Amino acid sequence: MYIGLDLGTSGLKGIVLDDSQTIVAEATAPLDVQRPHPGWSEQDPAAWITAAEQVLEALKGQTDVSSAKAIGLSGQMHGATLVNKSLTAIRPAILWNDTRASKEAAALDTQNAHEATGNIVFPGFTAPKINWLRTHEPDSLTDLWKVLLPKDYLRLWLTGEAVTDPSDAAGTSWLDTANRDWSDAMLTATGLTRDHMPTIAEGPEKTGEIRDDLAARFGLPKGLPVAAGGGDNAASAIGLGIVKPGQAFVSLGTSGVLFAPSDGYRPAPETAVHTFCHALPDTWHQMGVILSATDSLNWLASQLDAEPKALTDALGPLQAPERPLFLPYLGGERTPHNDARIRAQFLHLDHATDREGLTRAVVEGVTHALRDCRDALAATGTRIDRLLATGGGARSTYWLQAIATSLDTPIDVPETENGAAFGAARLAMLCAGQAGVLDTPRIARRIDPDPALTDAFTEAHTRYKAAYTALKGLT
Ligand code: XUL
Repeated sequence: MYIGLDLGTSGLKGIVLDDSQTIVAEATAPLDVQRPHPGWSEQDPAAWITAAEQVLEALKGQTDVSSAKAIGLSGQMHGATLVNKSLTAIRPAILWNDTRASKEAAALDTQNAHEATGNIVFPGFTAPKINWLRTHEPDSLTDLWKVLLPKDYLRLWLTGEAVTDPSDAAGTSWLDTANRDWSDAMLTATGLTRDHMPTIAEGPEKTGEIRDDLAARFGLPKGLPVAAGGGDNAASAIGLGIVKPGQAFVSLGTSGVLFAPSDGYRPAPETAVHTFCHALPDTWHQMGVILSATDSLNWLASQLDAEPKALTDALGPLQAPERPLFLPYLGGERTPHNDARIRAQFLHLDHATDREGLTRAVVEGVTHALRDCRDALAATGTRIDRLLATGGGARSTYWLQAIATSLDTPIDVPETENGAAFGAARLAMLCAGQAGVLDTPRIARRIDPDPALTDAFTEAHTRYKAAYTALKGLT
């Protein structure tokens, strides 16, 4: 038996796999995001621990976990979790979609940073947040012991060890991504040293053992190993068996991601594509990331006092994009714009616009944004011929049809949602010495592009890009 824990933005999910990778227990605890100021996005790390306690308790109630052989961890990336020597979080974690550090990010984003890390220093990455705190909240840094990523704060609680993995560390702007080790130059640029960093272990490596008191409390075996795991996108890829060039997935979660393994370290910071380590040794991947995918639909649903799924279920068959047009930049955008100031827009509303039209516009807007990611990946030479779908938004056939048609790429929907928690459990299997666990899932159905609508989606995407160009000066 193997346990995977994924600390997402909207909830913490845990699963238990048996030796044949069948899910025998599954539990989720919801999480809220606090947005005390425009552009800010925070969570209290204590809420992560409470969620983990709920999930581990629920898993124990569903199955006998006393024969578990390892736990793997996955989590939302980039969050700055400041920890003092008593292993306590100093302040709320500053999350991946927090753009307050845009000035600090721009200042760090030099040619040297591109060379060291292979990436733009985006405002949501971890390092610029430390420089923001140094100016605006210096007291937070007085007792700083380590800066941890969200899943690694869970590990600290589980094991007492401060360790991360290269796939997650690549999103800090402190990693020498080619060599999978900390960059002293990037650490110095934020006034930190290696002492402030966790040690680095590859995804399947053992990073510690569960504390005795937690093992006893949650019915787990004493000394249960905890695998390094991965950032949530790399972990999802492991869950979907996406580990070789030529494979790719689209994720419709709070963020939207187009992810493709590469045939080595292939940085391309000029495209705003992310080039990160994958969760297996000596492997790398690229991805385009948009900040508000299901987050956009959830926002609309909350304004309309509706359930997001009810909104997309009401859409009927795929239609050519019409008015209105939605730009999904609720909290700025990463790929391809690296623009923390831009905000979301509805254009061309008229008297006839109804909730269905607004929903379609949101679904199409996210689709156009993912097409931008595809174009950014293509500019680096990464071709995508087929995509696997993952994330909560992938339950909407309309949405997947829109993406398949706009990208002119078939999308396969797996029979089971082998997401990040599943990938984390697979990394636990590798940690426990199991081999041959990285196969791709069985496909429930294939969503093909609708050739009658591809031109209409291309035209709408052209309008979408023109709208961004026209509006970015008005922020
Ligand atoms: C990736 C990113 C998001 C978060 C969401 O760069 O910021 O996908 O990992 O969980």
